[in-house]
Formats: sequence, C-alpha cells, structure tokens
Amino acid sequence: MSDDRSSARVRRATDDDIPALVAHRVALRTEAHPRRDDEVRAFRDATTEAYRELTATGELIAWVAERDGAVIGSVAAFIRRTLPNMDGPALEARVQSMYIVPERRRGGTGTALLQALLAEMRARRVRRVYLRPSVSGRRFYPGFGFAASDEMELYVATDGGPAHV
Ligand SMILES: CC(C)(COP(=O)(O)OP(=O)(O)OC[C@H]1O[C@@H](n2cnc3c(N)ncnc32)[C@H](O)[C@@H]1OP(=O)(O)O)[C@@H](O)C(=O)NCCC(=O)NCCS
Repeated sequence: MSDDRSSARVRRATDDDIPALVAHRVALRTEAHPRRDDEVRAFRDATTEAYRELTATGELIAWVAERDGAVIGSVAAFIRRTLPNMDGPALEARVQSMYIVPERRRGGTGTALLQALLAEMRARRVRRVYLRPSVSGRRFYPGFGFAASDEMELYVATDGGPAHV
C-alpha cells in the first residue's frame, strides 16, 4: 500500500511526544467504552509511566504522524526476544496503540505509520509482527499481509475479557 494520500509527516516519537502517545492510547481504550474519570486518570498515569520506562529501555519504540504541527496519529512496537528458533532471529514485535484521530481517518495516515513501523522491523530483522486488531483494524491490517494466526490463549488472573490492541 502507498502512503501517497497522506500529507502527514511520520517520524519516530521522542520523550516530548509521550503525552500525545498516552492521549491516543487513552482515546483508543475509551472511545467505544467510556469509563469513569477516576478510572481514566489512573489509566493515563499508569500508561505515562509505562511509556517512559519502556521507551527508555528501547523495548517500546513509537512513531507519530504530524499534520499542520499537530500530532494526528501514532503507533508503537513492543519488541521482545523469544527463545531461539531453528529458522531465524529470535525477535518479535507487537503492534500497539495504533490510533488516528477520528477526523483524519481514511486519509492514509495509518498506512504511513504502519509502513514506517514495518520498515524498522525489517531493518532490525524482527521475525514476526503481531497484534490484536480492533473492529476497524480487522479491515486495515490484511492489506499489509497480516493474517489470522493459529495461536491459542487463555486469560488468567483477569476479571475482564480480552484486552484490545
Ligand atoms: C484503523 C486505523 C488505525 C486506520 O488508520 P487510517 O489512517 O484510517 O487508515 P488508512 O487511511 O491508511 O486506510 C488504509 C486502508 O485500510 C482499510 N481501512 C482502514 N480503516 C478501515 C475501516 N474502518 N473500515 C474498512 N476499511 C478500512 C481501507 O482499505 C483503507 O484504504 P481506503 O481508505 O483507500 O479504502 C484508524 O481507523 C483508527 O485509528 N481507528 C481507531 C483506533 C483503532 O481501531 N486502531 C487500531 C487498533 S488495532
């Protein structure tokens, strides 16, 4: 897919972008399922701390898309080692918190962000990139070659259902 439609500029996120990254993750989690203010505040604080910690170690790397000086979208890749495989480097990445502000969706910005992420994963020889798609994500990711996998999973020590993205 081409990102020609998007006039957004995609770049790697810096520490200064953490508030925007956090705002996008909070929006992603609350857009469809509004929560109480105190729950949102606690989630925002925990997410800010996690972004600070994980970007500092390099486990999490993020990109932002800017247009007219404003951040209109972002995405992060959570990179981890796995045990060695017989057939390749043992790195995997989970795509997290892909989010475009509602008024800029379907303009190619998600494509531009995902292309930047995938280029970096190829450069780092990351073997597998995976994610849990949202409803709109189910329509978005297949265009890049993402396909349903055969993993099994069980939620333990949780009182909720599957957590998205
Ligand atoms: C999903 C999302 C990231 C896509 O970003 P975007 O900038 O809107 O995507 P693009 O404009 O680059 O779309 C590229 C293609 O993906 C497909 N696509 C994207 N969103 C779609 C949707 N909601 N329904 C159907 N197809 C969709 C289309 O084929 C589209 O090309 P087209 O517009 O020429 O038809 C964005 O809609 C979003 O932020 N959604 C809310 C948060 C979310 O669900 N994030 C994903 C978490 S897994």
